Amino acid sequence: MFTRSFILAAAFAGAAMAAESPQLGQPITEKEAAAWDLSIGADGVGLPPGRGTVKAGEEVFIAKCQGCHGEKGVGQPADKLVGGQGTLGGDVAPVKTVGSYWPYATTLFDYIRRAMPLTEPQTLKPGEIYAVSAYILNLNGIISAKTVIDAKSLPKVKMPNKGNFYIVYPGEIK
Ligand code: HEC
Repeated sequence: MFTRSFILAAAFAGAAMAAESPQLGQPITEKEAAAWDLSIGADGVGLPPGRGTVKAGEEVFIAKCQGCHGEKGVGQPADKLVGGQGTLGGDVAPVKTVGSYWPYATTLFDYIRRAMPLTEPQTLKPGEIYAVSAYILNLNGIISAKTVIDAKSLPKVKMPNKGNFYIVYPGEIK
């Protein structure tokens, strides 16, 4: 009898413990969470230290991007990254690129860091990402060849199409 009630008691204790915690795993560390916390705000919040020049960006581009985005970002086999300005909203077929369409330059850092190069994302260092962003912006005629891109200057870059975005449901989105 003793054995039976002991087993029952143990079973109840187990049930009580299970109710306290779903036992789904272990809490992740701040360092582990940081690897997934990659988003950069449109205003540049979250941009890491580092800097890059257009010249250094050209080297990164030739080594790691050109194979898919073409010489000087003209496209093929993958997306065209340059040109198309003035093709949106007219009679001609729109050519959407970083230069013609994207409203925020900071998106370049976010996108390239999380997704490019396509076959080995998240391998570029912040300096390489700033540099290749500078190169793409310069190819689009948005910044001069001398502009150095970092956490301060990138959010200040004015994208040509920024003013053409509008809120479809005003009042619902703040
Ligand atoms: C193996 C091929 C490949 C390589 C290498 C590559 N890309 Fe891409 N890239 C793509 C593809 C495919 C897309 C479109 C992805 C999509 O739409 O989901 C893309 C999209 C992009 C875009 C977004 C274009 C847009 O207007 O939506 C940018 C910016 C970009 N790549 C930058 C880079 C940079 C910078 C590098 C080098 C560091 C790079 N890519 C290397 C294949 C590649």
